[in-house]
Amino acid sequence: MRQKIIAGNWKMNKTPGESVGLAQAIKAACAKVPKAKVVVCPPFTALAAVSGVVRGSAVALGAQNMHWEKSGAYTGEVSAAMLLDLGCSYVILGHSERRTYFGETDEIVNRKVKTALAAGLIPIVCVGETLAQRKESQTEFVVSAQIVHGVAGLGADLGRIVVAYEPVWAIGTGLTATPAQAQAVHALIRGKLTELGGAALAQTIAIQYGGSMKPDNAPELLSQTDIDGGLIGGAALDAVSFMGIVNAV
Ligand code: 13P
Repeated sequence: MRQKIIAGNWKMNKTPGESVGLAQAIKAACAKVPKAKVVVCPPFTALAAVSGVVRGSAVALGAQNMHWEKSGAYTGEVSAAMLLDLGCSYVILGHSERRTYFGETDEIVNRKVKTALAAGLIPIVCVGETLAQRKESQTEFVVSAQIVHGVAGLGADLGRIVVAYEPVWAIGTGLTATPAQAQAVHALIRGKLTELGGAALAQTIAIQYGGSMKPDNAPELLSQTDIDGGLIGGAALDAVSFMGIVNAV
């Protein structure tokens, strides 16, 4: 049985001061150990403050990005070791906003995934098609390629990743994939993971859905066979709506 994992991606929102309040509210609401694994992913500048709040609690800490090299002359970048030192156990990699605005390719994502795993972080690897790609019936092709290239060459470590299926057209738009649409792509992803690592291993990998997930649409999405949680944007910025999704599990 895969444990469901609900992660909040705060994106470029919340100062360190604002982050503390949100993290405290989520931690308090998670005091009665939730059924789901709960992760918060504040911006880099708020990681230290939020780490201080959630340390020792049921709430895990994640970052939204990292560099693929261990250290060096990469102005403005952050390494896996820096994230670990702050108490992170997760890192979101290959989010569609990173792919769109910062040119991240599957090859870059793959390097980052390997570096994260080698450092002991759990990568949340994001994949998903654009609206144009869906309209052109390219969803299967695009998502398959993102999986096959993004998580290639991991060996047994493949079992340590989390995948997030985020259809780009559903992110921040209020448009959600229907449970059936999402389940179809999640099943496709599990099929690709099976090709890469075998059925037994693929069955253990959590595949989150992301894209306008809210407390009201979460129960039906989360009840699909291959939907093992959510990667939440907008609704993660408010403790009540985020906990509404956590409690839908
Ligand atoms: P929204 O929940 O705001 O659509 O964002 C989803 C997302 O991109 C999470 O990573």
